[in-house]
Amino acid sequence: MGKGTVYSAIQPSGNLTIGNYVGSIRNWLTMQAEYDCFFAMANMHAITVRQEPAELRRRTLELAALYIACGIDPEKCTLYVQSQVPQHAELAWVLNTVTYVGEMERMTQFKDKSQKHADNINMGLMDYPVLMAADILLYQAEFVPVGQDQTQHVEITRDIAVRFNNRFGETFTVPKALILKQGAKIASLQEPTKKMSKSDENPNASVYLTDDRETIMRKFKRAVTDSGNEIRFAPDEKPGVSNLLTIYASFTGKTAEEAEKEFAGKGYGEFKLAVGEAVADKLAPVQAEQARILRDKAYLGGVLASGAERAYKTARKTLSKVYRKIGFYQGE
Ligand code: TRP
Repeated sequence: MGKGTVYSAIQPSGNLTIGNYVGSIRNWLTMQAEYDCFFAMANMHAITVRQEPAELRRRTLELAALYIACGIDPEKCTLYVQSQVPQHAELAWVLNTVTYVGEMERMTQFKDKSQKHADNINMGLMDYPVLMAADILLYQAEFVPVGQDQTQHVEITRDIAVRFNNRFGETFTVPKALILKQGAKIASLQEPTKKMSKSDENPNASVYLTDDRETIMRKFKRAVTDSGNEIRFAPDEKPGVSNLLTIYASFTGKTAEEAEKEFAGKGYGEFKLAVGEAVADKLAPVQAEQARILRDKAYLGGVLASGAERAYKTARKTLSKVYRKIGFYQGE
C-alpha cells in the first residue's frame, strides 16, 4: 500500500499574507512526511484576472522559493508550476463537458469576482472551478488542504468526479477537503470580522510575507482593537483582540488560552508590539532563505523541472485512462 495523496496549490498573484503562511504553507509541511504530496503554483488560475506578465513570472519563482524556504522539501514532495504540465488544461476540457453552466454561475467566488472585476468576466473566471477539479483529479488525490473560501470548489470537484465515475466507470478518486483551522481564521488587521486577504486595498489590513520588520511593527501598531481594555479571547465580542491573540499563538506555537494568560493585565499597546515582534522574528529567517534560493537560479530551475517531470508522469497516466474511458483515439 502506498501513502495517501495530498494535492494543493496557491496562485502566484498578489502578495502572500501571514494568513496564507499559517493557513496553507505551514500546514503543508506537516503533511509531507505522511503523504505523497503535490504542491503547485497555480499560474493558470491566476490569469483568470488580469496579470502583468513579468510580474506573474517573477511571483511564480518567488512562491516556489518561499515554499522551499518554509521547509517544503522538493525531494519529498512534488513542487511544480501548473502550466508546465499540459494535462491540467487537457483534463479541464473534458471535465467541462460533464459540468453545467448553472453550477458554475452559482459559485460564490465566481459571483464575488464578477462583481469585483465587472469589466473582465471572462470564460476562464467561470471555468476556474473546473480547472481546479482537473488539478486535483489528475493526481487521484484523497485530501485537499484548503482554506474555508475554497471548500465550495472542492465540493464541486467531488460532484464532477462522482458524475464522471457514474457515467464512464470508476476513474477518479473522490477527494475530501481538509479545512485548515487556524489560517482560515486570520482576519484583517483593519476589519477583524473579514478574512485577511492578499488583495485587500487597505495596505494596513494585511501583513505580507515580504514585509520588513519596520513595516510589520507599524501595521500591528495600527491594528484595530476593540472597546474596553481587556486582552481576552472572545471572537464574537472582541474580534480585533482575538485575531491578534490567534496570530500571536500561531507564530509562537502557543495556544490562544496561553497567549491570553501571558497578556492578562497588560495594555493594548504593549500587546500589539509583542504580536508584531513574534511575527517579525519568525519571518526574518524565512525571508533570508527565500532570497538566497531566488539568487540560485540553477538550483530553483532544476527543482521546478524535476517537479514538473514527476507531476507529468502521474498526470499522463490519469489523462490516458480518461481518454480511454470516453473513447478518444490514442493511436494504435
Ligand atoms: N483556487 C485555489 C486558491 O485560490 C488555488 C488552487 C488551484 C487549488 N488549484 C487547486 C487549491 C487545487 C487546492 C487544489 O486558493
